[in-house]
Amino acid sequence: MAEYFTDLLPRVLSRRTVLKTALFGAAGLTLATLTKGCATAPALGFPTIYPNTDDKITLPEGFEHGVVIRWGDALDGGENLDWNRIHQTVTEADVQRQQQCFGYNCDFVGYQTTPDGKHLLVVNHEYTNPELMFQTVGDRPNQWQAALQREAHGLSIVEIAKNTKGGWQYVKGSPYNRRITGSSLCEISGPAKGHPLLKTAAEPTGTRVNGTLNNCSAGKTPWGTVLTCEENFHTYFGGSDSNLTGMVKELHKRYDIPNERADRYGFYLYEDRFNIEKEPQEAFRFGWVVEVDPLSPDRAPIKRTALGRFRHEAATTVIAPDGRVVVYMGDDERFEYAYKFVTKGKYQANDRAANLNLLDEGELYVARFNDDLTGEWRAIARVEGSTITPNPNLPTAFQQDPALCFIYTRAAADALGATKMDRPEDFEWNPVTKSVWLALTYNEKRKAQATDGANPRPENVMGHVIEIIEQGNNPTALQFQWRLPLLCGDPTASEQNRQLVLYGAPTNGEVPPISAPDNLTFDRAGNVWIATDGNPGSERLGKNDGVYVLNPFRRELKMFLSGVPGCEICGPEFSSDYQTFFCAIQHPGEGAKSTADLPTRWPYGEEVVVPRPAVIAVWRRDGREVSA
Ligand code: FEO
Ligand code: CA
Ligand code: CA
Repeated sequence: MAEYFTDLLPRVLSRRTVLKTALFGAAGLTLATLTKGCATAPALGFPTIYPNTDDKITLPEGFEHGVVIRWGDALDGGENLDWNRIHQTVTEADVQRQQQCFGYNCDFVGYQTTPDGKHLLVVNHEYTNPELMFQTVGDRPNQWQAALQREAHGLSIVEIAKNTKGGWQYVKGSPYNRRITGSSLCEISGPAKGHPLLKTAAEPTGTRVNGTLNNCSAGKTPWGTVLTCEENFHTYFGGSDSNLTGMVKELHKRYDIPNERADRYGFYLYEDRFNIEKEPQEAFRFGWVVEVDPLSPDRAPIKRTALGRFRHEAATTVIAPDGRVVVYMGDDERFEYAYKFVTKGKYQANDRAANLNLLDEGELYVARFNDDLTGEWRAIARVEGSTITPNPNLPTAFQQDPALCFIYTRAAADALGATKMDRPEDFEWNPVTKSVWLALTYNEKRKAQATDGANPRPENVMGHVIEIIEQGNNPTALQFQWRLPLLCGDPTASEQNRQLVLYGAPTNGEVPPISAPDNLTFDRAGNVWIATDGNPGSERLGKNDGVYVLNPFRRELKMFLSGVPGCEICGPEFSSDYQTFFCAIQHPGEGAKSTADLPTRWPYGEEVVVPRPAVIAVWRRDGREVSA
C-alpha cells in the first residue's frame, strides 16, 4: 500500500481550489484524480445493503446475528430485572438489582481476552430513556425511577463465550462480571486532583467521586485497560445558577450547566450533589476520561484529569515509535475541538504495572486545521509530577492557576485559535493506513460565512470524515496534513451539501446513502467501519441508522448493517480472529413519546412490553472473517 501514503494533495492548492475539490470534485481536479487508490487491495467481500425502516436487523446475504446481552440481564447469579413490572412501578429492590444487571443504552463495546483465555466485553451505558422504561414517568421521575436510571448508567464488564450457533452469549455469574454505575466510587488523579474546584461539602479532598456518567464511547489501551469517556455529563446538573459567581459560574456557563435535560433523569431532585444551588462544584468532578481495569475487579475506576475536561466522546490510543503513548480525543459539541495527549513516559510491553499511571503525565494538545490541507497541534499544557507548565500564550488566569488548563480546557483551546469542528466523535489511529480518522457527525448550525477547509459545508446536516496524516506517520508529530475522504449524504440528493462525495468525487446511485458518522473501527485490512447516529425521524436520511464500511484503498463504500427504528448503532468492534463483529443497538424505539407509541419492541423474545438496548454479534455462516 506504499502509494497510499504518498498521495496527499499537493500543498500548493489554493483554499478556493481545495474547497471546490473536496466538496464538488471540480472537473479535472478531483481528489480522486490527484490521488491514487490501490486497485490491487482486496475488495469488501459482501454486497452492499441500503438504508431501510424495517423493524429488524438487516445484514448482507450470508451473515447471521444474535443477541449477546440486553438491558436488565443479570451479571451475577441472581434474577434478571423484571422489566414488565418496572414499566409499571419501581421499588428500592429493583434499584439494587440494577446494580447487578446489564445497564441501559449500551454504547462502546470493547472485546478483549484474559490471561486465562476467557473473552470479555466492556460495554458503556451512556444514558437512559425514562419515556421508554416507565409507563408513567410524568414530567419528572419519582425517587426510585431516578435511582434506577442512575444505576443503569456507567459500564458493564462481562465474560462471553461462543455458542453452538456460531454466535456468542454472556456467562452469567462469571467472576469477571462487574457493574460500575452512577454511584460507584471512582478515584481522581492527575493535575486536577485535589484542586479547590473539585472539592465539595461531602468530599472536601477533591480526590474521590461517586459515579461515572454518560459514558459514550471509549478506547482500549495497550496495557489492557479501558478509557471510558464522560460525554454529556452536564445533562445531570439542575437547579438555578443565579447565586453563583466568578469562575464557578463562568465555567458552568461554558459547559452548559445547569441543563434543562436534568429533569429527564431527576437526579438533582433527590441528591443535593446534582443540584448546583446546593452543591455548586460536583459538576467539576465529571467530564473526564476514566480508566477502568477489567482484569482487576477490586480496583476503582480512575478519572485521568491530564486528558482534559470536556464532552469526551472517545479516547483511543496508539504507541509512537519512541514508545510514548498518544491518546486521540474529540469534544462532541457543535464548534468544539479535536485533542490529543502525549504521555511523558514510555509503554513497557513486559511490565503492566509500569503502564498503569502513564496517563497522569504528559502534554495536552488541540488541533488547528489550515485551509492549505496542513495542520498543527497547539500545546495547552504539560504536566510532570506536580509541575504544570501552561502554554505561555494562554491568558493570565491559566498562568496563575495552571490546573485550569485541564479543568477549563475549552477556554484554553478557544484562546489558542483551535479549529471549531462539526461535532468531533470517534478519533482513531488506523494501524494499516497509519493515519488518524475523525468522524464529524453533523452541524446544522454552521453558517456559510463560518465554513473553513476542514468544515466546508454550510448547514452541515449530513456530517463528514477527516483523515489526518501526522508528519512522518508519527503520532507524536506536531504538524500534519489532512483531507476529506467522505462528505456524507445521498448520491441522489438535489442539494449540493446533501450529496455524497467520496474522495472528492460524486458517486452514483449504487453507493448507499450515509449520514451522521459517529463510531469508527478498523478491520485487519485497514477498512474503516463507520456506525451512524442520527437518522431516524430526522432531516438527514430519515431511515434506520446503520454500519458502513469505507475501503480507503479502492475508495469503495458499502452498507453492512441496518438497525431497528429509533436506534443508533455504537461500538463497532471485532473479535481478535475477525470472525465476529460486535455492535450495540442503542435506544431502540427512541423518538416515541411513550411506550404506547412504540415503533419497535426489539429484541422481542419474551412477554416484554418495552424495547431493550442490547449488544449483538454478527458472523458469516461459512465461518470466514467478516470483511473477507
Ligand atoms: Fe454519545 Fe457523541 O455520541
Ligand atoms: Ca457516539
Ligand atoms: Ca453520537
